Amino acid sequence: MTHVSITPVRVPAALAGPDAADFLAVAELLNAQQQEFWGNDDFHAPARAQLAGRGSTATRRRELLAARMGADPDAAIVGVAQLNLPLTDNLHTGTVNVVVAPGARRQGVGTELFRAAANLAAVSGPEQADGRNRPSGQRTRRF
Ligand SMILES: CC(C)(COP(=O)(O)OP(=O)(O)OC[C@H]1O[C@@H](n2cnc3c(N)ncnc32)[C@H](O)[C@@H]1OP(=O)(O)O)[C@@H](O)C(=O)NCCC(=O)NCCS
Repeated sequence: MTHVSITPVRVPAALAGPDAADFLAVAELLNAQQQEFWGNDDFHAPARAQLAGRGSTATRRRELLAARMGADPDAAIVGVAQLNLPLTDNLHTGTVNVVVAPGARRQGVGTELFRAAANLAAVSGPEQADGRNRPSGQRTRRF
């Protein structure tokens, strides 16, 4: 299997500046997947809107993880996992959304992203993550 590097992506304070590059790449990847899934851009979220919605709040801990092929930290981001953990209720649950760019699929990237997100969530305590990887929404993993 190709080596996959998984790193956290910080939600930047603003979109200008070099520290926003990974966040912008992730925002683009998520929009591309929406386009692919729905066949239109109805759910396209401008990076500015994603900036407003992807950070943690008092009731939700949100984490982003990026995947790259190989060990080069400057390689293109080919996948993302979004981890969403409630902080005030349903503390035993969490959700993980995994997206891998079409050209990088079936090489284990999605598996590695889910594993990393599950590990991150496990440190925080949820007993179960809800991972759906089919349009039918079938549940895939329990940890
Ligand atoms: C679902 C998705 C994240 C999988 O990413 P990936 O990097 O291709 O996943 P992996 O290579 O780790 O595949 C793991 C296993 O998942 C299954 N799988 C992945 N894609 C599949 C597909 N299109 N059809 C059937 N099984 C599939 C296979 O069992 C695969 O193992 P295998 O290649 O040894 O047969 C990716 O196809 C994707 O981004 N899809 C669009 C977005 C989406 O549906 N996200 C899930 C929302 S939570």
